[in-house]
Amino acid sequence: MYSEKVMDHFSNPRNVGEVENPNAEGQVGNQKCGDIMKMTMRIEDGVIVDVKFKTFGCGAAVATSSMATELVKGRTIEEALTLTNAAVAEALDGLPPQKLHCSVLAEEAIKAAIADYYTRQGIDPSPIVGEG
Ligand code: FES
Ligand code: FES
Repeated sequence: MYSEKVMDHFSNPRNVGEVENPNAEGQVGNQKCGDIMKMTMRIEDGVIVDVKFKTFGCGAAVATSSMATELVKGRTIEEALTLTNAAVAEALDGLPPQKLHCSVLAEEAIKAAIADYYTRQGIDPSPIVGEG
């Protein structure tokens, strides 16, 4: 059912925990399954120099959080904002259809953290998170 990469990131997740002195924090949840994902970041000069996650959720949520942190670490905010849930799932060699929403949570958590950073900088975050 799960790819080797998913199993690897589930059993040995990267970047677990919370970064020291975060200046970006985002927490999102999925109302249907009840899973919660929290991302903390340290952003310096527009670059995500550190990122860590805490996920209370299923194995696919853990694996997608882990992969998402790897994909945005060391990247600029602009690059991180282009990360889609499909790209996270693809980097994991795919997810079962009923688990794609777990990767959506990872994309949303990254965007929520960056939106929080924008808010702290006095920048309007609505283009990132939309109206909702
Ligand atoms: Fe998320 Fe079962 S639905 S752990
Ligand atoms: Fe809900 Fe995985 S089952 S995030």
